[in-house]
Amino acid sequence: MTATSGLHALVTGASSGIGVVYADRLAARGFDLTLLARREDRLRDVARDLSARHGVTADVLAADLAESADVRRVEEYLRVHGTDFLVNNAGFAVYRPLADLPEDTVEEMILVNVLALARLTRAALPGMLARGRGTIVNVSSGLSWRPFRTNATYSGTKAFVNNFTRALAEEVEGTNVKVQLLVPGVIRTEFHDTSGTDLDRLPPGMIMEAPDLVDASLKGLDLGELVCVPAQPDPEVIARVFEAQLAASPRSGEVAPRYRS
Ligand SMILES: NC(=O)c1ccc[n+]([C@@H]2O[C@H](COP(=O)([O-])OP(=O)(O)OC[C@H]3O[C@@H](n4cnc5c(N)ncnc54)[C@H](OP(=O)(O)O)[C@@H]3O)[C@@H](O)[C@H]2O)c1
Repeated sequence: MTATSGLHALVTGASSGIGVVYADRLAARGFDLTLLARREDRLRDVARDLSARHGVTADVLAADLAESADVRRVEEYLRVHGTDFLVNNAGFAVYRPLADLPEDTVEEMILVNVLALARLTRAALPGMLARGRGTIVNVSSGLSWRPFRTNATYSGTKAFVNNFTRALAEEVEGTNVKVQLLVPGVIRTEFHDTSGTDLDRLPPGMIMEAPDLVDASLKGLDLGELVCVPAQPDPEVIARVFEAQLAASPRSGEVAPRYRS
């Protein structure tokens, strides 16, 4: 049984996959928990299991992050109760060419993957800054760096997570608030039932297990890494990606010669 730390964590998407593992690992570190997702029955099972195994308090917050009234309820919860550790993990993908993707699915992906993540971060941040402690983990995807013909919306939502989180990290520099951008590759979860990926058709070496991902994320935080790519052995590669982006960005008022007739 873990001794509670007096700290609190809110994990979104805690009814399955990566979120369940975050909840477990944070409970093992003594965090009391608030577990958020739509499937309340699943959340209750997770909460019961984690309280029994780790001796922490685990509350359930059933909310649909595509519904603005629910997001506002969670924001209010964060403003009133505060949290020491926010994991913005809830998210989903449907891979299909944009012309075939239902408009509602385009909207829902943006609402959950982008808007809810931004609003919950915004709601949690002032309390963390005021208390002088806090951690925010935002779950992105390797596909944020790999736009292709069936993932325009999903890849776009995760590219938002990347820039949002990197800019936020600059904003909290010099405070005791930590921010992490987690960039998973292919992780064995229910995500693929919705996205339409058959994991059996991928080389087994490509698939990471959720506990390995989450343990790497927590280790990355201990190492002070802003960007954590658990499957990337060379962190210099990540630094070079950002350097290349900077090099490509326009920093002159002069039109380049090839555009001048
Ligand atoms: N698995 C991968 O290969 C992979 C790769 C890169 C990135 N990711 C990212 O990792 C994160 C977690 O995904 P996962 O792999 O653990 O998938 P998962 O097992 O399907 O879990 C997704 C979680 O998000 C919750 N969720 C989805 N829509 C929601 C909504 N409208 N409101 C509230 N909660 C919602 C789900 O709960 P309910 O259905 O109960 O609401 C569930 O708890 C996602 O952001 C995903 O984009 C996954």
